Amino acid sequence: MILTNVTRIDADGRSSTGRHQAGSGTETVDGSGLLLLPGLIDLHAHLREPGFEESETIATGAHAALRGGFTTVCAMPNTQPAMDAPGLVAELTARARVARGARVLPVAAITRGRAGHELADLVELAAAGAVAFSDDGDPVDDARLFRSALEYARGAGRPVFEHSQDRVLSGRGVMHEGAVSADLGLAGLSPAAEETAIARDIAIARATGARLHLQHVSTAAGIDLVRSAKAAGASVTCEVTPHHLALLDEWVAGSRRFAWEPVRGASPPQAPRGVPYDSATKVNPPLRGEADVRALWAGLADGTVDAIATDHAPHASIRKDVEYAEAAFGISGIETALSVLLMAIDARMGELSVVVRALTSGPARVLGLALTDDAIVVDPLREWTVSVEALASRGKNTPLLGRRLRGRVVAAIVDGEVRYADPAWKGARRAEAVAR
Ligand code: DOR
Repeated sequence: MILTNVTRIDADGRSSTGRHQAGSGTETVDGSGLLLLPGLIDLHAHLREPGFEESETIATGAHAALRGGFTTVCAMPNTQPAMDAPGLVAELTARARVARGARVLPVAAITRGRAGHELADLVELAAAGAVAFSDDGDPVDDARLFRSALEYARGAGRPVFEHSQDRVLSGRGVMHEGAVSADLGLAGLSPAAEETAIARDIAIARATGARLHLQHVSTAAGIDLVRSAKAAGASVTCEVTPHHLALLDEWVAGSRRFAWEPVRGASPPQAPRGVPYDSATKVNPPLRGEADVRALWAGLADGTVDAIATDHAPHASIRKDVEYAEAAFGISGIETALSVLLMAIDARMGELSVVVRALTSGPARVLGLALTDDAIVVDPLREWTVSVEALASRGKNTPLLGRRLRGRVVAAIVDGEVRYADPAWKGARRAEAVAR
């Protein structure tokens, strides 16, 4: 289609307004007020198949991704069985192709069964199509094994995506360790558990020269470690998530204040308080404090942070609608990510160009892949309410349920083909044009 009067932002964050082709076809659509962006790339999503299809499938996840503007998603290997064999990687790729949603790139396990004892066949997994290796959710505790993993991954020409967490130090923590966890009497996850692991992982990566990608960095000191490793020339990259850029540990206690909203006062009006101990706020790494949120945004602005990845972690209600301490970690976030980020940009937390880079060229560089010509069309002013029905994902586990968000993907184009289009958007634009 051809969009007239549309504001296009490219993968380097440069913007231009005018007439732009999006995908194939010659239908002309009024694009005034709309954004045309490259298809977003998510380095970190849980599609749950095989093994946890009640939470998500490759097909439901790949279609939810398109609604969120992600035309490429990296599927995490914490499936059952774990994605540790070439046949499983091939099966995932085949199912994704049939689903015709977002393109799905398999991330294979580092260790057999993700058990942390024995390396998987990394070279064969890469040959079968794995774009990276990770035991996501479970760090590789054994430093010697982690070193071997990095060495083999370097040989296979793939990065290692690591969930950096010292599990001895984090113990049985369920939320960020701080004043709120003390108030609620919930066991805390110490920021130091993340930071000591990041320091270890960077040191081992430097010893091997392999490409290390740190997943969902959530603390200010973690960002500092990445910043100084990069300054020293290490091959280290990192991602942050939309929930860590917007939500706070106080959400566990029932607050629903975005990190940029004032503590009190009417502008913008405070959203109603949620239910304290709402397990939809339980995520690992946990929601942190305001200083951490600001540090993540600063890391994005100065290039320390390479990518924004959703860590989309859908869970069936049976794993979430239980006591806080028993609930699974994870937020279903692939459909709300872009709206939340656009609202943060409106609140001057960061620049649109920086966010677009972190969702497109940044993750492509982490993967070492060329950009495709996938594209999305976004209505930045369209408001919508997050609800069970509005989410295509099987995972309804988001603390944003009931929240009104601004900014909505209205079309997603993969391989030249419109694979998702909001049924109303073209009609709505025609009505606007007639009314003008
Ligand atoms: O919150 C999380 N959810 N953190 C993880 O490390 C794993 C993930 C999941 O698989 O649900």
